[in-house]
Amino acid sequence: MNQASASGTYRIGGDLPVVRLGYGTMQLTGEGVWGPPKDHDEAIRVLRRSVELGVTFFDTADSYGPTIAEELLAEALHPYADDVVIATKAGLTRTGPGVWIPVGRPEYLRQQAELSLRRLKLEAIDLFQLHRIDPKVPLEDQVGELAKLQQEGKIRHIGLSEVSVEQTKAAREIAPIATVQNLFNLAKRDAEPLLDYCTAEDIGFIPWFPLATGELSKPDGVLAQAARDHGASPSQLALAWLLHRSPVMLPIPGTSSVAHLEDNVAAAAIELTADELAALEALA
Ligand SMILES: NC(=O)c1ccc[n+]([C@@H]2O[C@H](COP(=O)([O-])OP(=O)(O)OC[C@H]3O[C@@H](n4cnc5c(N)ncnc54)[C@H](OP(=O)(O)O)[C@@H]3O)[C@@H](O)[C@H]2O)c1
Repeated sequence: MNQASASGTYRIGGDLPVVRLGYGTMQLTGEGVWGPPKDHDEAIRVLRRSVELGVTFFDTADSYGPTIAEELLAEALHPYADDVVIATKAGLTRTGPGVWIPVGRPEYLRQQAELSLRRLKLEAIDLFQLHRIDPKVPLEDQVGELAKLQQEGKIRHIGLSEVSVEQTKAAREIAPIATVQNLFNLAKRDAEPLLDYCTAEDIGFIPWFPLATGELSKPDGVLAQAARDHGASPSQLALAWLLHRSPVMLPIPGTSSVAHLEDNVAAAAIELTADELAALEALA
């Protein structure tokens, strides 16, 4: 068994299998998620090593770089292995490092889907996520445009990002929603009601910042002692906790280094008892 596959498989939208422990590409861009990576060759190695380790689920967005993360994915992995699934997003514009402004006008979302198809060298995007709901545009127009793209065969499944249970329910009145992606990790569990809803409804839940942007990975952080006791790294415990939390959980840890990638992927095989899970929750 290759390493990532120990995390098990989840079928996005009921028909698109992914290995649950995935990879997020945001760390492959420059400072402030702006511009190219410091080390282009290491970025390519990270992506190719992910596939070697059995990762099949890659999260990206038009806005990472912008365009850089999608371009790196195509450069490293195209032509894609049959089981590689790329989830991209649109709906956040970038006007500078660290600046993210929602734009949900239908014609803009459609343009970004077309440009992602071109950059990723794909005929259809497996999972297309509305990066943020734009409060200035009716939800029907935003999700409705994604539904049109889906009917045209340009995207296979629709996802949402940073939403409430109520928003997810409202979007499901407009189109089938296969996944949601919200901030969630051992130390930040505000999205728990949404996770429980997704678990009950069999909607994929993609936790962003699964390592709390590295805070949970620190060798001297809150998970340090538990990691030593378990013969694991702090990152591995944070990811294993997520994987145990729900069968619909699809963590996408980000890293710019092959060494950290290998550390993270090994989390797939870590077993935790109910007592150990509770102890981790009490720590963070
Ligand atoms: N939907 C949204 O609005 C949204 C928002 C943010 C992020 N995301 C997605 O979520 C993904 C994950 O978030 P993220 O990458 O920002 O944060 P993360 O996965 O929580 O943490 C990444 C940070 O942890 C460090 N790290 C990773 N593995 C490590 C290890 N084994 N040991 C020590 N340090 C380690 C990385 O540094 P190194 O590079 O040095 O390893 C990096 O600084 C993103 O890539 C993106 O795809 C989505």
